[in-house]
Amino acid sequence: STIGVIFDLDGVIVDTAKYHFLAWKDLADELGFEFTEAHNELLKGVSRVRSLEILLDIGNVKLSEEKKQEYLISKNEVYLGYITKMGPDEILPGAEDLLNNLDALEVKYVLGSASKNAPLILKQVGLLDRFAAIVDGNSVSKAKPDPEVFLIGAEKLGLPPEKCIVFEDAIAGVEAAKAAHMVSIGIGDQETLSHANFNFNNLTEIPEDFFAQFISE
Ligand code: G6P
Ligand code: MG
Repeated sequence: STIGVIFDLDGVIVDTAKYHFLAWKDLADELGFEFTEAHNELLKGVSRVRSLEILLDIGNVKLSEEKKQEYLISKNEVYLGYITKMGPDEILPGAEDLLNNLDALEVKYVLGSASKNAPLILKQVGLLDRFAAIVDGNSVSKAKPDPEVFLIGAEKLGLPPEKCIVFEDAIAGVEAAKAAHMVSIGIGDQETLSHANFNFNNLTEIPEDFFAQFISE
């Protein structure tokens, strides 16, 4: 096909954002400050290490490098406790229909996630084999809003960035897609993601003929 699609994982294909939130909140509780859903928006799409920095800024907490390493490990352990219980029922509504639609159109798609747990999550929900490639937190050095993850995705698709369509639920993710000169689709709150080229509340809202406008003969 003349176009390709890059999917973020957390908050687009699966609702792991709630588990990240719970795991970070655990840490904030332990450190003695409040961590709200609004704060959590700032962590979406952001790497684990960067998320901890933002969290500590919110709580005005300074930690040694050693302590930070310790907390990164314990946060991930809490998070793993949640995701190892996940199953196919946690695929977000509309996601499988969308992938089926792309298959029918012969449009290739890859994953473009900041998460180092992406392969495990995809395996848990039974979607690991569906993506042409997995670009995740293990294969990038610069986190969103840097465009690196999506530019590698475009390479895997064998397409120029302008021919790639990115599905994102995070402020930083939409910024990364824009920096990569790709079409950005914001999934979730329209106001939070007003910088996206297109907005939908969730994947069920995407019209079946949506991709036709991008496909040239
Ligand atoms: C995704 C999530 C972030 C998370 C990041 C790293 O982008 O939206 O909230 O911090 O991945 O995930 P990881 O599973 O590697 O901790
Ligand atoms: Mg996300």
